[in-house]
Amino acid sequence: MLQLVKPALEFLPEYKAALERGWSADNVRGDVAAREELQKIETDPVAFIAALDDRQAKGGPIKLPDGSTVPRLPGFRRWMWDGAFCGSIGLRWQPGTSELPPHVLGHIGYAVVPWKRGRGYAKRALALMLIEARGAGLTFVYVTARPDNVASQAVIRANGGRLVERFQEPAAYGGNESLRFRIDLKIEAGPIVAHAPQGAMDAAENPCGTSDGVEPMIPKITLTDAPTPEMRKAIVEPLVEFKRCAKQSSNRWSNSTTAASASLKLTARWSFCFPIQGAMRSLVGSMA
Ligand SMILES: CC(C)(COP(=O)(O)OP(=O)(O)OC[C@H]1O[C@@H](n2cnc3c(N)ncnc32)[C@H](O)[C@@H]1OP(=O)(O)O)[C@@H](O)C(=O)NCCC(=O)NCCS
Repeated sequence: MLQLVKPALEFLPEYKAALERGWSADNVRGDVAAREELQKIETDPVAFIAALDDRQAKGGPIKLPDGSTVPRLPGFRRWMWDGAFCGSIGLRWQPGTSELPPHVLGHIGYAVVPWKRGRGYAKRALALMLIEARGAGLTFVYVTARPDNVASQAVIRANGGRLVERFQEPAAYGGNESLRFRIDLKIEAGPIVAHAPQGAMDAAENPCGTSDGVEPMIPKITLTDAPTPEMRKAIVEPLVEFKRCAKQSSNRWSNSTTAASASLKLTARWSFCFPIQGAMRSLVGSMA
């Protein structure tokens, strides 16, 4: 199953091999960025890895396709791994707000190596990165895709993205037409849903409960293992919010409370499902 791993030296040879095969993690600067990365890996692999997790934006300015530079935002990358290297996904944000400066096209960018495409990896990677985005305090993210990038649009929509505008990319990016999608991460109380399949983290495309005419959804994430500190941060807060909302609308949801999993809706489209037995019980217990 696909996981997101923190870039580390143990994964680096496969990352490097992908770059050498002509793939690039950088969708904006493509080959040029790939060659620069190979150079950095050659010079100092440890520093290269360290720079991929830069939550204080300590790295230098970011180069745009026209050669101009802009200030770096805090951010980090994760690598897609299914036992082998599959791709890269990055998150960046502006401290203290979910908005982005005009020169930054989106919060999240991703690329899957050509030989691992069409397996749902980008969809799952984005689903997992949205958890991290919430953990970073964002209430929504923007993701952009060119009009001809149908695959990326499918990935974004599958994760609750809704088209907010068709826009012209800044001249420094080449001025192409692009589509901006927004994925809301705000928590609303959602319905109780049927028990999720067993498995460590299951982002299968099972319907996860709907309400108020909301489209049936979307990736389902099941926690059966003890949560990591990062997951707790991303999940305990939503659970507290869920509890508050559930109290406010107890009539609406009370019929369902005997079902085996609780679903937290991230906006109307996103659901996190936790088996009551296990992770959720311990999380709820820790909320008291
Ligand atoms: C876009 C990209 C990340 C998708 O990765 P992936 O792992 O193959 O994506 P997934 O398998 O998770 O899902 C792809 C979806 O797009 C659909 N798709 C793929 N190619 C398509 C095409 N030519 N036309 C229509 N739909 C297409 C798939 O059918 C699937 O949707 P479905 O599950 O509803 O059928 C990958 O193609 C890539 O790395 N492209 C280059 C970099 C890039 O464009 N990044 C995004 C920048 S916005």
